[in-house]
Amino acid sequence: MSPLVEIKNVSYTYHTEKGETKTLDNINLEVNKGDFISIVGPSGCGKSTLLSIISGLIEPSCGKVILNKSLINNDSYYIGYMLQKDHLFEWRTVYRNVLLGLEITKNKNKTTLQYIDNLLKQYGLYEFKNYKPSQLSGGMRQKAALIRTLALNPEILLLDEPFSALDYQTRLSAGDEIGTIIKNENKTALLVTHDIAEAIYIKK
Ligand SMILES: Nc1ncnc2c1ncn2[C@@H]1O[C@H](COP(=O)(O)OP(=O)(O)O)[C@@H](O)[C@H]1O
Ligand SMILES: [Mg+2]
Repeated sequence: MSPLVEIKNVSYTYHTEKGETKTLDNINLEVNKGDFISIVGPSGCGKSTLLSIISGLIEPSCGKVILNKSLINNDSYYIGYMLQKDHLFEWRTVYRNVLLGLEITKNKNKTTLQYIDNLLKQYGLYEFKNYKPSQLSGGMRQKAALIRTLALNPEILLLDEPFSALDYQTRLSAGDEIGTIIKNENKTALLVTHDIAEAIYIKK
């Protein structure tokens, strides 16, 4: 089967008033269905830039990203993007944060609401669904952010240092839990991090 995403000879250069920053130089990578790939590299090496290119937020300067036909035909929400900061809205409850993507894309229906309820129940957030994000721990907030991403049923998850803002203990348990959720839900994932431990324990 052909890969879900193929990154072919991708290079990227930022142009600013101060000059050029050659950030990516001839990157090649295949992401196959069911893969959990971690890319580790120091801060500033171009990890977030690579995810922005894969998600289509920016175009590569050279090379191309080939998406599998199954992704394109599916619907337009095939990529879920989760960032270091959870971006939960404080004025909404956990439940209404999780619903946000479905509301924006007008996909709120019996099936999708049931799916969200199941995820909340299965991963220990159902009792907290009427709490505000500030009433949750850092690890729970990241779980809520993940469920919000999963609600749109993306084929691929892009995770940009999702645990870096958490303290060490929480990172271990949240990493563990989130790794398990991604595997249980049969998602393909590409994680970037500067933290080699993060890359290893989430894949356990
Ligand atoms: N919008 C931008 N304009 C100019 N340079 C940028 C921009 N975003 C990132 N860069 C530069 O590109 C390089 C890679 O950045 P980034 O992809 O964010 O790295 P990482 O995620 O690995 O920390 C860095 O040197 C950074 O300064
Ligand atoms: Mg980054």
